[in-house]
Amino acid sequence: MNIGSTRTCDVLIIGGGSAGLRAAIEAHDAGANVLIISKNKKGDPHTVLARGGINAALGTMDPEDNWMIHAADTLREGEFIADYERVEVLCKNAPEAVNELVNWGARFHREKDGRLTQRFFGAHTYRRTVFYEDWTGQEIIRVLLDQVSQRKIEIVDDVYITKLLKSRNAGDKREGSDEIKGAFGIDLKKKEIVRFECKSLILAAGGYTRVYAVSSSRIFENHGEGVALAYEAGADLVDMEMVQFHPTGMVWPEKAVGTLATEAIRGEGGILLNSKGERYMKNYYPERMELGPRDIVARATYNEILAGRGTKHSGVWLDITHLSKEKILDRLPTMYEQFKNMDGIDISKEKMEVAPTAHYSMGGVAVDIKCSTKIRGLFAVGEVMSQIHGANRLGGNSLLDTVVFGKIAGGEAAKIAKEIREAEIEKTEASLLERQASNEKESDGNGLFIAKEPITFRNEIQELMKLNAGIIREEIRLQNGLKRILELKKEFYSKDNILKEFKIKDNADNYENVVLTWEVKSSLVVCEAIIRSALMRQESRGAHYRSDFPKLDDEKWKTNIYCKKEETEMRLFKGSVKEITGPLVDLLKAHVKAEHHREFE
Ligand code: FUM
Repeated sequence: MNIGSTRTCDVLIIGGGSAGLRAAIEAHDAGANVLIISKNKKGDPHTVLARGGINAALGTMDPEDNWMIHAADTLREGEFIADYERVEVLCKNAPEAVNELVNWGARFHREKDGRLTQRFFGAHTYRRTVFYEDWTGQEIIRVLLDQVSQRKIEIVDDVYITKLLKSRNAGDKREGSDEIKGAFGIDLKKKEIVRFECKSLILAAGGYTRVYAVSSSRIFENHGEGVALAYEAGADLVDMEMVQFHPTGMVWPEKAVGTLATEAIRGEGGILLNSKGERYMKNYYPERMELGPRDIVARATYNEILAGRGTKHSGVWLDITHLSKEKILDRLPTMYEQFKNMDGIDISKEKMEVAPTAHYSMGGVAVDIKCSTKIRGLFAVGEVMSQIHGANRLGGNSLLDTVVFGKIAGGEAAKIAKEIREAEIEKTEASLLERQASNEKESDGNGLFIAKEPITFRNEIQELMKLNAGIIREEIRLQNGLKRILELKKEFYSKDNILKEFKIKDNADNYENVVLTWEVKSSLVVCEAIIRSALMRQESRGAHYRSDFPKLDDEKWKTNIYCKKEETEMRLFKGSVKEITGPLVDLLKAHVKAEHHREFE
C-alpha cells in the first residue's frame, strides 16, 4: 500500500460540522496548529440539516426561564441517565454560546423591539429555542466557517478516515496507556491514501441514524463511522440503544422519505391528525399535545399508523394551514419550499403527510466532562459523543451541545498538544527517531480493503434495523436482528467477499466501493452495539421502548450500558449514573411533577 502524503499538525479534527468547527476555533486560539478533515464538502456537513433552532435560557420571551430549568427539562427528557454535571455545563454555558454566535454575525430572528425571538420546542417548560427561519444549522455553519477562515485554519474536504493511529509503550497492557497519534484515510479527490500525524485528535464525525432505512440523515452520512473508529481504537461506547425517532419525517414521494419536517412546525402551532381527522395526541399526552416529549409523540404517531388510522402513504397529517402564509414564509420558509418542491403541496393550504424517522443518536463514545476518551489525546464531541441527552434529547439541544462542548474539546485538545510538544523537546533526537519508527510499524497494517457489492449489505442492514430494532422493540425481533447482523459480519469479512487489491487510482468503482465498504464496516459495529444494548435493557426508557417490558424500571435500569472491544468480541457492562447533587435536586423535585413515561398498547 502506498501512502500518497503525510500531513502533520498539533490538533487533528475529524468532521467539518458545527462541533468540529467550534473546536477548531478554540484550539487555534489556544495556540495549536489545527487541521480539519471532512468527508463532506466544506460548508455542507450534516449540521446544515439542523432546522428548528438552538436552545438557551435567555428569557427573552419568558423571563422566568433560567439555566436550571433548562437543565431540569434536559435531564427529565433524558429520563435521568444523562451525566448531570455535563448537562449543567451545557445549560449554564448556553446563553454565552448563543451570544457568541450572535456577535459573530448569526442572523437569528428578532422581535420588533430587537429581542431575540425564542420559540417552543417539545417538552420545554418555556420558549427557549433561538432560530434563523427554519435553517438554523446552516446559519451557524456560515458564521463558524467565517471564523475558521479568518483564522486561516485549513479544511481538507473529501477525505474519508478509515483508522485512528495510536501508540502504546511496548509491553504496557494497562488501560489508559494508549496515546493517539493520528489517522489514516483516503483522499477522495486526489485518489490517494493519506496519513495524518497529530498530538491530539477530536472526533466530531456525527452519529449513526443512517443504519436505519428511514432516517433524516442524507444517504452518505451518519453510518456510525466516528463511533466505530473510536471503538476499534479501544474507546468505550455507551447508551448505544438510545436512538431518537423524530415524529415527523416526510413519507412521500419516495425520494423524500425520512426527510425532516421540523419540530418548529409544531412549535409554531402545527397540529397532528390521524386519517379520521382526530387530534390524536390528546389520547397520549394531553398535557402538551404535539409539544410533548419527542419519544412519546413519535410512538403515538407510529401507534396511530399501526392501528390503521394512517394516511395513504402510511403517515399522519401535520397541519399548519390555520397560520397565515405570511407567517409561514417568515418562520418556515424552507419547509414551504421543501413540501412544494418534493411533494407538490402548498403547506399554507394543504396538510403535510408525515411519519417517524430515525433522527439522532443519544449513544456514542464515552467521554468525561472535558470530552476526553480513555485514550490520551482522543476527544469526542457532537453527536458522536454520549451522555449529554440520556435516553432522549430535547429538540434544539443538539446544535447547542456542538458549540458548548466543541469549545471545551478544542481547548483541552490544544492543552494536551502543548504538553506533548514540550515533552518532545526535552527528548534526545535519537529517542524521538526511535519512537517515530515504532509508530510507523504499528500503522503499516491499516487493513484497507474493499468488499464485493457493499451496497447490498448496506441495504439489508438498514431494512433489518428498521424491522428489528426500530421504534418499538421486543426480545424476539432483537434476537433475530442480532443473529442476522452476526451472520452478515461473517459474510462481510469472508475471503470470498473481500477484494484484496485496492487500486484506487485505476478503478472508479473501487473508489466508491471503498467508502461504502467502510460505511458497512462501521454500521456492523454500531448495529451490534445497538441491538446488544437494547436486548440487555429490559425496560422502557425514553427512546428505547420494549413492548415486552413497557415499564420504566429505575431500580434495575437507572444505569448506563457500555460496550467495549475485547480482543475481537464486544463486551457489555453496566455503569452507574452519577447521583444528582447541588441546586438541581430541589428544583427537580418540584419540576418533575408529572410522570413522563407512557405505556403503549
Ligand atoms: O425538528 C427539528 O428542527 C429538529 C431539531 C433538533 O433535533 O434539535
